[in-house]
Amino acid sequence: MNILVTGANGQLGNEMRIVSKSSTDHYIFTDVVEVEGQETIILDITDLDAIRSMVKAQDVKVIVNCAAYTNVDAAESNQELAEKLNATAPQNLAVVMKEVGGLLVHISTDYVFGGDPYNTPCREDQKGTPTGVYGLTKLHGEQNIINSGCEYVILRTAWLYSEFGKNFVKTMLNLTATKPQLKVVFDQAGTPTYAYDLAKAIAVILEDYKDTLTAQRSTLNYPHKGIYHFSNEGVCSWYDFTKMIAEYSGQTSCDIQPCHSNEFPSPVTRPAYSVLDKTKIKKTFSLNIPYWTDSLKKCINNIKSI
Ligand SMILES: NC(=O)c1ccc[n+]([C@@H]2O[C@H](COP(=O)([O-])OP(=O)(O)OC[C@H]3O[C@@H](n4cnc5c(N)ncnc54)[C@H](OP(=O)(O)O)[C@@H]3O)[C@@H](O)[C@H]2O)c1
Repeated sequence: MNILVTGANGQLGNEMRIVSKSSTDHYIFTDVVEVEGQETIILDITDLDAIRSMVKAQDVKVIVNCAAYTNVDAAESNQELAEKLNATAPQNLAVVMKEVGGLLVHISTDYVFGGDPYNTPCREDQKGTPTGVYGLTKLHGEQNIINSGCEYVILRTAWLYSEFGKNFVKTMLNLTATKPQLKVVFDQAGTPTYAYDLAKAIAVILEDYKDTLTAQRSTLNYPHKGIYHFSNEGVCSWYDFTKMIAEYSGQTSCDIQPCHSNEFPSPVTRPAYSVLDKTKIKKTFSLNIPYWTDSLKKCINNIKSI
């Protein structure tokens, strides 16, 4: 099966590169720029014709969309670009997958929630109530995919980190090593997610899709089409997350203190509680999801050994 990955130079895209090594499928990794030492084909997902030609030329059966506008703060002053990347571009991918009868695996976010006050894990069928432009444009992306009529799996995930690119873990590894004291918010709860674990879950879904294709000899009716929630197991605040980052990296000299969100002026209000309920994905694909601290420990060990 030919699988095209977009945004292959990002956090999740790079984890997909690793996971793909143990697959018998043919992966095509694409992004807007080439990075030295990485095989990448240039594909801008805002360009519908370019997607169409690549999908046809490479006989692509599945697209895994890891590309997005992910800067939550900057999105507030760049709504047009965020909408183009997070809503129109996924629609382009969906239109082409509909044309060729393929599957679109798209990544969305816990930030589609947050506007309504709640303190129980969010389910897939719950109404989206984004608090900012990033969440709103990601919600539009989901709606565009669903309305396109293509076969899709939308995976909402949260608080992604990895060995690659910029992320909270890498920032805190640096700050806890260089600052004597640090304040981190404790009034926003969610679940950190190791992008490698998400990539492995995507690989399971792709195998399931391939089995369906083999059984049905058709691409028209994937029984597991839909929206799913995926994060690591557990719940914590950014403060708890930082405490564990410091502990696992051995940076115990930094005094880490909890604080309220309003102590850090931000252009966007982030969800106070965006824990995802993963019952559906675990049941549908028989997934065993690692606890967040176990995965964090693995990622930090990998970062230390780079
Ligand atoms: N990061 C999080 O905490 C988080 C949380 C929940 C959900 N998610 C979702 O998870 C997915 C993966 O996130 P991530 O953190 O891996 O993202 P990321 O590291 O920001 O990677 C996104 C990649 O997409 C590329 N890209 C930008 N514009 C593009 C275009 N027009 N065409 C093709 N590629 C383009 C980026 O290139 P440049 O860097 O050169 O622009 C980058 O390589 C996204 O859908 C995101 O919304 C992320």
